[in-house]
Amino acid sequence: MENKEKMKAIMMAKYGTPDVLQLKEIEKPSTKDDEVLIRNHGTSINTVDVLHRGGKAPKVAFWGMKQLVGFFLRLSFGGLRKPKQKIPGGGFVGEIVSIGKEVTDWRVGDHVYGYSEAGGACAEFMTVPASVLAKKPANLNFQEAAAVPGGSTPALVAFRDLATPKKGDKVLIIGASGGIGTFALQMAKNVYDAEVTGVCGPTNVEMVKEMGADFVIDYTKEDYTKNDSKYDIILDVVSTKNLSKCKNILASEGIYVSNNPISSPKNLFHMMTKNKKFKTGTADESAAAMNLIREWIEEGKIKPVIDTVYLLSQTAEAHRHYETGHAKGRVVISIE
Ligand SMILES: NC(=O)c1ccc[n+]([C@@H]2O[C@H](COP(=O)([O-])OP(=O)(O)OC[C@H]3O[C@@H](n4cnc5c(N)ncnc54)[C@H](OP(=O)(O)O)[C@@H]3O)[C@@H](O)[C@H]2O)c1
Repeated sequence: MENKEKMKAIMMAKYGTPDVLQLKEIEKPSTKDDEVLIRNHGTSINTVDVLHRGGKAPKVAFWGMKQLVGFFLRLSFGGLRKPKQKIPGGGFVGEIVSIGKEVTDWRVGDHVYGYSEAGGACAEFMTVPASVLAKKPANLNFQEAAAVPGGSTPALVAFRDLATPKKGDKVLIIGASGGIGTFALQMAKNVYDAEVTGVCGPTNVEMVKEMGADFVIDYTKEDYTKNDSKYDIILDVVSTKNLSKCKNILASEGIYVSNNPISSPKNLFHMMTKNKKFKTGTADESAAAMNLIREWIEEGKIKPVIDTVYLLSQTAEAHRHYETGHAKGRVVISIE
């Protein structure tokens, strides 16, 4: 049945700077049989949102990779000249307001969160396949829960799938104060019981300590690739380094995990040659992953760190903030 009711949404008619993100009033979407309609209460900014908006490869991509990756990204967003999905935002948290005919596991009124690869989360209402829904963590409010999808899942994949710390293992997290790093630090420490060293900038040293890091290195004061430590796992979230630069601080059986295999030709080479010391992967945004993260949150092992909460009308500002590369944890958009 067609739904003519209106909602507010951020629309981008073309790829470009944050200025392309415009608040509009548009028709509310209608659900397909395997979907639910959500009254969305929030989202948070991830790299993929910025790539979707800009239609370009990530800044960290090395020269030569930028054009190639940019081209394939535009194809994956459905339009070489302009984005097919015009509403950005993958992570969502909200309340189910209607349900497609084939959906049996969920009820109207359920509080859910998750990640929709199709985007659409910068809007008051969005449709999502029921298969990606997970229950919202009961101990978080909507704004806090909005900070979880997207940031937590690359950290989960790093430690659950690519290099799992054993109790007492020495783990180095490069970029421990950012959106992914704040989750990674808490997971390594509180889920896997590792000894964690966090690398961050000078303004975040105290915060990283307070989050439970055993040691903190300020990258403006110390070149951590030249110290005497040997780490069992290095998670390079920000990818200003590569495996070759980190090999002196990697234990003999150690593993270097990169969030950005295209950040340097050397990392790409290690990936292509399947070097056993090099691991990389993409985020797992499935309902199973979001449920596991919910359990850890409800058990008090991890919690989102939020830098700033913006309104939907301030989405462009939120993108600019995230793109500084120095947010303390997550940049959230509240949709009330
Ligand atoms: N593989 C995947 O599936 C996947 C998914 C999403 C994102 N990513 C990648 O992950 C990266 C990080 O994402 P994010 O959302 O966590 O970014 P973010 O929130 O902007 O965090 C960036 C972090 O990098 C730190 N940093 C900046 N310059 C540094 C330097 N020179 N040395 C060490 N640390 C430095 C920042 O620390 P200070 O602010 O304290 O300086 C901050 O902790 C992005 O590049 C993205 O491409 C990968």
